Amino acid sequence: MARRHRIAVIPGDGIGKETVPEGLRVLDAAARRFGFELDLAHYDWSCETYAQTGRMMPEDGLDRLRESDSIFLGAVGWPGVPDHVSLWGLLIPIRRVFDQYVNLRPCRLLPGARTPLADRTPAEIDFYVVRENTEGEYSSSGGRMFAGTEREFVTQDAVFTRVGVDRVLKYAFDLAMTRPRKKLTSATKSNGITFTMPYWDERFAEMAKRYPEVKTDQFHIDILCAHFVQHPDWFDVVVGSNLFGDILSDLGPAVAGSIGIAPSANINPEKKHPSMFEPVHGSAPDIAGKWICNPIGQIWSGAMMLEHLGEKDAADAILKAIEDLLAEGGPRTRDMGGNAGTVDVGKALAEAVARG
Ligand code: NAI
Ligand code: MG
Repeated sequence: MARRHRIAVIPGDGIGKETVPEGLRVLDAAARRFGFELDLAHYDWSCETYAQTGRMMPEDGLDRLRESDSIFLGAVGWPGVPDHVSLWGLLIPIRRVFDQYVNLRPCRLLPGARTPLADRTPAEIDFYVVRENTEGEYSSSGGRMFAGTEREFVTQDAVFTRVGVDRVLKYAFDLAMTRPRKKLTSATKSNGITFTMPYWDERFAEMAKRYPEVKTDQFHIDILCAHFVQHPDWFDVVVGSNLFGDILSDLGPAVAGSIGIAPSANINPEKKHPSMFEPVHGSAPDIAGKWICNPIGQIWSGAMMLEHLGEKDAADAILKAIEDLLAEGGPRTRDMGGNAGTVDVGKALAEAVARG
């Protein structure tokens, strides 16, 4: 019996509808070559369905997704629907209910891709950002009192639990252990944020004792951002709270080149719930409908999904196809200085994966 993986597919809005089919094309090629099957369940949940139904997903949406091993998502968001509505109506519930407490983004300068940083080579930009994805600064604890009066005040609490902090730190240390450099950097701000950040530092130091082989350091978030730009070669795995991780996980892929190639994963490491794989970019309304967007971020996200599902060889084959295509001057989209269409790149990669 072939291995089967159940995948929920949500293209979403804008260029998500263009990148997801190319992602599936490449996944299909990998499945054939490596002998597994993908059971796809397609969902058209998007801002368009919101306009028709008043909901980003149906009431039983999460229950339907629960049946799948992984979720393969394009992008969500479209002018006319406020971004907080689309985000909180679809992505945030998925991340929270399925306890996808790790947001993982590889930041790699691929050979043949261009970084905005001068004179940096692929060997110098190759790290992961691990972001805590369920608590921290993004809490729903807080409120507003005396609204509209002179006494008006607003609070928003940052919530750091021992369970929440330790599990994301553990994930980051485990990831560092799989890397040749075995180095982990922690993002902090314990000079300015005097309760939660010292606690984060304390748990980091405590966890480090369990991983004597991992070299550790830590920086305050402000100077860390500067180091990402000036010394990207210092980093191997970088872990941060929800807010700091959010900032670093956009900055990291940006220093590594086009937003069009950056992948991401929202992971429930215990596999108790489905994990979700999606490109870093959004729905790109400015270029949607022209079929010129770069599908590589989506396709690379598909490779991360296969790795999570235990199909490491297939994941490696996809990544190698991407590396070869860029290094050997294969078709590339406009954002990478070429003039190929979305489908050209997807087909070239699917063929490369099929060929091996
Ligand atoms: P965006 O990532 O959609 O676009 C930013 C810029 O990058 C645009 O100029 C776009 O043309 C370009 N770009 C993005 N992806 C590309 C690709 N694959 N190939 C070539 N060029 C690409 O971010 P923006 O404009 O801030 O957001 C647009 C919508 O997407 C908003 O509604 C936002 O809320 C949503 N969004 C959704 C995300 C998600 O689903 N996880 C993430 C980020 C934004
Ligand atoms: Mg962000």
